[in-house]
Amino acid sequence: MELDGLDKSRLPQHVAIIMDGNGRWAKLRGKSRIEGHRRGKTSVRVIVEMSRKIGIRFLTLYAFSTENWFRPHDEVDALMGLLEHYLVAEQPKMMRYGIRLVAVGDRARLPANVRNVLERVIDLTQGNQRMTVVLALSYSGRDEIVRMTQSLARLARDGQCKPEAIDEALIAAHLDNPDVPDPDLLIRTSGEMRISNFYLWQIAYSELHVTPTLWPDFREKEFLQALLEYQRRRRRFGRTDEQIGDSGELAVKLGGRQS
Ligand code: FPP
Repeated sequence: MELDGLDKSRLPQHVAIIMDGNGRWAKLRGKSRIEGHRRGKTSVRVIVEMSRKIGIRFLTLYAFSTENWFRPHDEVDALMGLLEHYLVAEQPKMMRYGIRLVAVGDRARLPANVRNVLERVIDLTQGNQRMTVVLALSYSGRDEIVRMTQSLARLARDGQCKPEAIDEALIAAHLDNPDVPDPDLLIRTSGEMRISNFYLWQIAYSELHVTPTLWPDFREKEFLQALLEYQRRRRRFGRTDEQIGDSGELAVKLGGRQS
């Protein structure tokens, strides 16, 4: 694939994607929603592959939200089956290319077969260092914040942390994945202007890219467009243009996890 115009020295370190529009893609073609998810799985493979090739270090895919549990049983079952199949099929490639898999979300709610294979791939790939793929599964931003708050409240109750010692870094350290930097770029497909309970804490300064393209149609060309648009932006993190300087890069790093 031609990467014309892409500046490899200014790639987003972490890209997060709200994959939306599988159902609409299927409906437009008179197919079942499940067929839409199947095609969506192919987009997942294509985008992980392209991210690896161009050197994106972290990629998060919002694959299943806590709200998605309320979908019809056959759709939930089909999504879980696709996930299991994806994990089994991609595991050798993850090892070959140094891809580490991690997950965010409430794993305890996943069916045992999916949880088992997920944990096996996470364990197997934990030492891989070239790229990290984060799957958001049974995930919602508020749920993660509730679980983080419970964990800090337990520390305070047990005398291991004073309430005044709670700061942004400590909160970040108690979220599901403390060693993943905040997303630089958040992509949403299918044109909806919503965050849908995704990474609420982590996207404070992420650049947003919303495309009308439905997720099953989101492939190399659309991804490249999103990356090029990102590179045209000036990220200011609440500072002035003068503080940022000519390079367009942030001169002053924010504290905590900000990449
Ligand atoms: C949103 O489309 C998409 C999902 C709820 C699930 C995403 C799942 C996949 C892409 C397939 C499997 C995932 C992996 C990681 C292998 P929607 O159903 O909400 O679409 P709609 O808004 O058009 O109805």
